[in-house]
Amino acid sequence: MSKIKIKKLSVSYGNHQVLNEVSLDIPERQIIAVIGPSGCGKTTLLKSMNRLLDLNEDVAVSGDIAIDGENIYRPDIDVNALRKRVGFLPQRPYPLPMSIFDNVAFGPKIHGLDVSSLSVVSNKEREGKGNKGTQRLVEHYLRLAGLWEEVKDRLNAPAAKLSIGQQQRLALARVLSIEPEIILADEPTSALDPISAKLVETQFKILKENYTIIFVTHILRQARRLADYIIFLYMGDLIEHGPAVRFFGEPCDEKTKAYISGEIS
Ligand SMILES: Nc1ncnc2c1ncn2[C@@H]1O[C@H](COP(=O)(O)OP(=O)(O)OP(=O)(O)O)[C@@H](O)[C@H]1O
Ligand SMILES: [Mg+2]
Repeated sequence: MSKIKIKKLSVSYGNHQVLNEVSLDIPERQIIAVIGPSGCGKTTLLKSMNRLLDLNEDVAVSGDIAIDGENIYRPDIDVNALRKRVGFLPQRPYPLPMSIFDNVAFGPKIHGLDVSSLSVVSNKEREGKGNKGTQRLVEHYLRLAGLWEEVKDRLNAPAAKLSIGQQQRLALARVLSIEPEIILADEPTSALDPISAKLVETQFKILKENYTIIFVTHILRQARRLADYIIFLYMGDLIEHGPAVRFFGEPCDEKTKAYISGEIS
């Protein structure tokens, strides 16, 4: 089933058009990779899906994006509610200047979420109320992000003391803590060492059971090992998209073949 339907999406910054009538359906509960050469519009496409593009002055967006059938560019849409449903994991982690614990507790507090609002939770976790509830929430999201075992004995330490790889998983825990359905991730492992990158990839594979994960990558090998579905952009055009096995096994377009073989990069 498709989670997101994009119809004739065009985006310009000033008079520079960077996405040209992109139309595609994005499947639910899979890992989707957006690939293509630098400057082809990957980040722009990603940010169009939770209206982060709106933060740019001088941006013009036309076309439609529907999530679960609801057009997110409707004038009366609640953008904060949208960004809660569609979380964004940036390339580099920016932990809040507070403890590991408070970094994770922050989002649910702002959004008024507690243990009872968890979608993915055991009955044991549901029992907590008040402080105990917050502790359960924090543990829950740190586990989902694959960080719990490494930080459970120092939850009150400043988040800035964590390694970059751990901070990126903390950032993932923070995204998860607002209970999104879709996770957008812009080159989420490009600032990480290979072992930390692998840990993030492992969590994505676990998380796709319950979330739709759309990530941008420059690394074809990463797209091959991680993605179920590929979106290939080239100079603002959607060249080809489809299941990863088909995309890599039987590419249709000449540009796709050239990109996969390394002739263009
Ligand atoms: N805020 C902006 N204002 C003006 N031009 C922009 C802005 N953001 C991006 N662009 C331009 O739009 C085009 C697409 O940018 P985008 O960041 O989406 O590409 P990308 O595929 O993510 O590239 P990279 O792989 O280098 O991250 C580029 O030519 C870029 O210079
Ligand atoms: Mg980019």
